Order: sequence, then C-alpha cells, then structure tokens
Amino acid sequence: MDRLETSARLMIVSDLDHTMVDHHDPENLSLLRFNALWESSYRHDSLLVFSTGRSPTLYKQLRKEKPMLSPDITIMSVGTEITYGVSMVPDEGWVEVLNQRWDRNIVVEETSKFPELKLQSETEQRPHKVSFYVDKDNAQEVTKALSEKLANRGLDVKIIYSGGMDLDILPQGAGKGQALAYLLQKFKEEGKPPKNTLVCGDSGNDAELFSIPEVHGVMVSNAQEELLQWHAENAKNIPKIIHASERCAGGIIQAIGHFGLGPNTSPRDVAETADSHLEDAGPAHEVVKFNLFYERWRRAEVEHCETYIASLKASCHPAGSFVHPSGVEQRLHESISAMKKIYGDRQGKQYRVWVDRVLPSKISSDTWLVKFVKWELLGKLI
Ligand code: GLC
Ligand code: MG
Repeated sequence: MDRLETSARLMIVSDLDHTMVDHHDPENLSLLRFNALWESSYRHDSLLVFSTGRSPTLYKQLRKEKPMLSPDITIMSVGTEITYGVSMVPDEGWVEVLNQRWDRNIVVEETSKFPELKLQSETEQRPHKVSFYVDKDNAQEVTKALSEKLANRGLDVKIIYSGGMDLDILPQGAGKGQALAYLLQKFKEEGKPPKNTLVCGDSGNDAELFSIPEVHGVMVSNAQEELLQWHAENAKNIPKIIHASERCAGGIIQAIGHFGLGPNTSPRDVAETADSHLEDAGPAHEVVKFNLFYERWRRAEVEHCETYIASLKASCHPAGSFVHPSGVEQRLHESISAMKKIYGDRQGKQYRVWVDRVLPSKISSDTWLVKFVKWELLGKLI
C-alpha cells in the first residue's frame, strides 16, 4: 500500500484461475507475456492485485506451480481476506467489517440440512467463507432455499455460485467487489486513488468486480457461462466492460490496449535482434530484456553469434555490475562473457526465466540501482 507515494497509474485487479493463470496452457506463455509487460512498463508506478477464491493455503500452492509475479495486494477466499505486500500483512479493519451480522456456526448448522451440498476441503473453510460443491442443476434451487433459511435465522449472507460447481457462503458485505470497493475507498482517503483500474475475471465470483462504477473490466475469452449470463442481464451496454477474444492473461493484455491504459506490447512478443539491445527504454525494461535474452540464449532460440554478445556488451556501461543477494559482485561485461559457455544448455527443455518486483531507483545523475527477483522454471519451479 505504501510503496507508491502517489496515485497508481494503473491498478490491475485480477482473478487467478482461468484468468491470470491458464490451466490449459502447460507452457504458461500468456502468463509469462503478461509478467514481462508488467515488470518492464508498470511495476514501478502501478499496482498489481490478485483476487482469488482460493484460501491462503491453495493460493500459496498455486504460486509453487505456476510462473507468477508477486502482487502488491492479495485478496483471497472470495474477498474475505485482504493482505499487503510479500509478507502478506492482513487488513484487520476488513475483518471487523466482515464480522457484522455473521455467525459462522449458524451457516454450518443450516447448510448441513441440505444433502445436495458437499463440503469442500478443510483448507477452503475460512472464518468468513463456508464452501461447498453443488451440481449445476441444483444450484439455483438450493441457493434460494438456503438464503430464506439463513435470513429467518437473522443472518445477512451472500451466496455465490462459480465455475458451475462451487457454492460459497459469505457475509453480505464480503465478496471480490466489496473488497475492491473497500480498497478504493482506502486509497481515496489517503489521497491516492488509482488513475485507472482494470478488473479481470472469468467466473461467477468475479461478477461483482465488474459492478464497481469507476473501473474498466475484461471478461477473458474463456469466461464461464454464469459470468457471461450475469453480464448479459446486468451490464450489457456498459462500454467499460469487454469480452476479450483472447484467453486468460492474453485477454488482460488485450484489454490494456483496448482501453488505452498504457503500453500493451510484451517484450516477449518482440523478436530478438542483434541491435535490439541498443535502444534505450528505461532500466526496468533493460532488466526484463536482458533476462529474456538470457532465457532464449540458453534455450538456443537466438543464434549463437558474437554480434549478440557484442551488442549486449555495448548496451551495458563498462562499470555496470550485478550484485547477488549473497553480496558477490560481478561486472556485467564479465557475466556476459560467461554466457558463451552456457549457450543452448537448456535446449529442448521447459526452461523459463522471469523477473519479479523490478524496482529501479536513481542513485546518482547517471547511475541506477535496479532491484529485482529472478525466477527460473525448469519443468517445475526452482
Ligand atoms: C476457489 C476456492 C473455492 C471456491 C471457489 C469459487 O476454487 O478454492 O473454495 O469455492 O474458488 O469461489
Ligand atoms: Mg477464475
């Protein structure tokens, strides 16, 4: 929250499963394209928010499986848990809001009377979220009967059906939309509302995100029927919401372009040429491009030629250096020379490199310090 001193240029609030993360793309290409774009052009002055139905346990598991960035804010358990930063500091104020007119025990008691409801795993049962599986055919009827029962017991709840199988029961004031509204209000009170907000989703629990008045929205091409139906019934003629023609993170990039929210060409979509290292596009962009080149070099996707090495060296200041977290320092020119030995050593492998939290700061008139985290994927995350 405090990383930016002024309004974020762009705040992206994205769902994860089947939106940011494509579970049908084993190569994770659209996610990696998004990552490169975000780190090269947005990270320094924008905010990345993940808003997922997953509990903290399953969210952390996903981060081990997929090449994901670290968000600035993580909203989990369908808008019932908000945390900040990489250390995931919980928002205690939000917990208090949710405690109003909520009694988890009554929810558990009443739902146990419905045989159609099958309890989800223990990890997905959270202080302000009780979750079940229910067939598509029974969903509407059960939802109706259950809300009546709970209302009779004096509870004000929200029942959300997603993915054609998940049924979540939350306090009325919870949900992805309400959590976002709460955040936007907080930013306003601090005098730094985001200049633009883009919400991204694919299923029922994302619908609320699209009803926040001041935001742009993208339903990815692979959006679920329940979300498209919600849109057709409630938000059909709103030009600030589009149904992308591209899947998942590809649809998010598409929306950035459609709404003119900023750069929308991922460095991953730019072919490597020997002189592509000579243009000057800012330090974050350089870090992203360098690591992309490094990946392509090790995968032998660029030619093994001296011209590349020479142009890479030419684009680095002779005094430029790389400092490892261990404190070991190496001249950039030396690291580039050392690359000759590892050409193609990851050829034919599922090897990917992506950089995360790329934050440049100017430390003197002609010197930048760029901090970043570098991740590598080799079949599984390493
Ligand atoms: C995630 C959660 C699950 C929830 C679903 C829909 O899959 O793990 O508990 O029901 O999202 O919100
Ligand atoms: Mg989803």
